[in-house]
Amino acid sequence: MTLYGVGLGPGDAGLVTVRGRETLEAADVVYTPGRLSRTVALNYVAESQLGDLDFPMTRDEDELRRAWKAAAAEVAPVAADGTAAFVTLGDPNVYSTFGHLRRTLSRFHPAVDVEVVPGVSTVTAFATALDVEITAGSDLVLREAANGRAPAGPDRMVLFKVTDVPATHEGLVEAGYDVTFGRRLYMENHETVVTDDPERLEERDYYTVAYAERPDAGERPATAAFGRETTADGGAPGGDAREELATAEAAGDGDARRTGVGDE
Ligand SMILES: C[S@@+](CC[C@H](N)C(=O)[O-])C[C@H]1O[C@@H](n2cnc3c(N)ncnc32)[C@H](O)[C@@H]1O
Repeated sequence: MTLYGVGLGPGDAGLVTVRGRETLEAADVVYTPGRLSRTVALNYVAESQLGDLDFPMTRDEDELRRAWKAAAAEVAPVAADGTAAFVTLGDPNVYSTFGHLRRTLSRFHPAVDVEVVPGVSTVTAFATALDVEITAGSDLVLREAANGRAPAGPDRMVLFKVTDVPATHEGLVEAGYDVTFGRRLYMENHETVVTDDPERLEERDYYTVAYAERPDAGERPATAAFGRETTADGGAPGGDAREELATAEAAGDGDARRTGVGDE
């Protein structure tokens, strides 16, 4: 008896993992928390596999607890007789509704096993979409910035739920950040916007993420500061670097020194 939490990735069916797809195809019932996740799931499951759960749009905690108890009561017998899956956009363990279901099952239906199939989260997808490199050694903090909020402090932040882009932009710029926004990244049948111009994103859209970075943030990776090598000599090391490489090679460490790569 298993409930699988399956991460669908940001919204492009091509970014669902192979394991996620196989899990969905094999599930007896697939529950979807919203229209977007349902559309992505339907690439891999038949309409008849979809289950029905009701999710109220409320912040009232009593109402939320009642709704999640009802959802768990619906899912538990399905998982007892076979396999159920609950999909989320991104990853099920990152800022996700799946946590509520998992906690409720564990409290009221502890016999149900829960397994998670990770998905491509906005936390990683944003970097490629916004053409940002988070270099090794960087600190990166996740925050929410709903309704114009502009949290500040860390050197680098990924901000979820950026519903009032102009207000959040103003606050972050005042606090000294460079900011880039991404809307509907890797979402099928939707326009993707990546911009640092808040006026392009005046309309409210929940599927908006921001990346804020202080201009002086940053570790300097070795390759950001080349010396006298030129493209003409193929970047061949000269002087001190050649000596260092010879020493490293004598110690049997030449490949790692040449490429800067060990096992990740
Ligand atoms: C409740 S969080 C869910 C995060 C999700 N579990 C994940 O791992 O990406 C919802 C927020 O994620 C961000 N988000 C999710 N998918 C997105 C997408 N395709 N493009 C831009 N932002 C997205 C938005 O900031 C949205 O308000």
